Amino acid sequence: MGKLKKGIILAGGSGSRLYPLTTFLTKQLQPVYDKPMIYYPLSTLIENGISDICLISKADQLPLFDSILGDGGKFGVQIEYRDQPRPEGIAQAFLIAESFIGDESVALILGDNIFHSSAVFGGAFRDFAEGACIFAYHVHDPQRYGVVAFDHHGKAVSLEEKPAKPRSSYAVPGLYLYDREVVRRTRELRPSPRGELEITDLNLAYLQRGALKVSRLPRGFAWLDAGTSSSLHEASSFVQTLEKRQGIKIGCPEEAAYRAGFIDRKRLCELILAMPTCEYKDYLVKFEAEIDMGTVIP
Ligand code: DAU
Repeated sequence: MGKLKKGIILAGGSGSRLYPLTTFLTKQLQPVYDKPMIYYPLSTLIENGISDICLISKADQLPLFDSILGDGGKFGVQIEYRDQPRPEGIAQAFLIAESFIGDESVALILGDNIFHSSAVFGGAFRDFAEGACIFAYHVHDPQRYGVVAFDHHGKAVSLEEKPAKPRSSYAVPGLYLYDREVVRRTRELRPSPRGELEITDLNLAYLQRGALKVSRLPRGFAWLDAGTSSSLHEASSFVQTLEKRQGIKIGCPEEAAYRAGFIDRKRLCELILAMPTCEYKDYLVKFEAEIDMGTVIP
């Protein structure tokens, strides 16, 4: 695993696009098929060797996250919690987490982004040294996202947030890697007309300095966001279809932690034993048994 050890999960926001579901439960704890949404971004970070995690959400939701994830010890990671009093932009996460970031590089993942499979990120996390690294994913509706356009040599030339007329079909997913300059660069940003510190403006600042790497994700890779009622439903269907067909789970932090070497087999067994009888437990029992068959490489 590489040098990048720290990661932020941004899991706040108003969740208004999921109303009325979000009147009693915050978006990132809604079920995506068989597990809470937060399991997916958490697993993505763990699969990529991130062991020091800062979860940011609204103060009244933090105890709920804490009750599910605790201090991260069960997954062999450390999780600390910070409050974002108002949703004043994705980039604000770096100001809230300034003392957590310290003098190190950091990954940021949005709490409603689901990736499969995370293996494609491995190189980006492992080799990350300086500047910023974002990803580009071909979609049919780029106007809903940050959009990156390329020149004829495949070099990124522009970044726009939700453009009415997108210059390409490449959206920027909610997973970003930054060097230790990120807090300083965020301080230089001004709020956008909608009053937010925009992540796209931060990425633009890196692009303009020639310090932004844009990595195009392969066609077979799946990126889903679960920010609206229909995309939440689609994400659940996708996960169910894939899990049923392949007999593997997407977004299983216990498995991710074992594969990343954060927990050993004994700890994995303890976690399994503590679970009530359910399909999730059945899966992990099977996974643990497969370790002896040589098909699981930690
Ligand atoms: O999903 C990827 C997209 O995420 C990117 O392509 C866009 O460039 C980026 O701006 C963002 O677009 P969204 O429209 O999805 O942003 P949204 O405001 O919905 O926020 C994304 C998540 O971050 C959501 O789960 C709520 C959380 N959030 C957002 C803001 C603005 C916070 O926790 N705090 C905030 O202040």
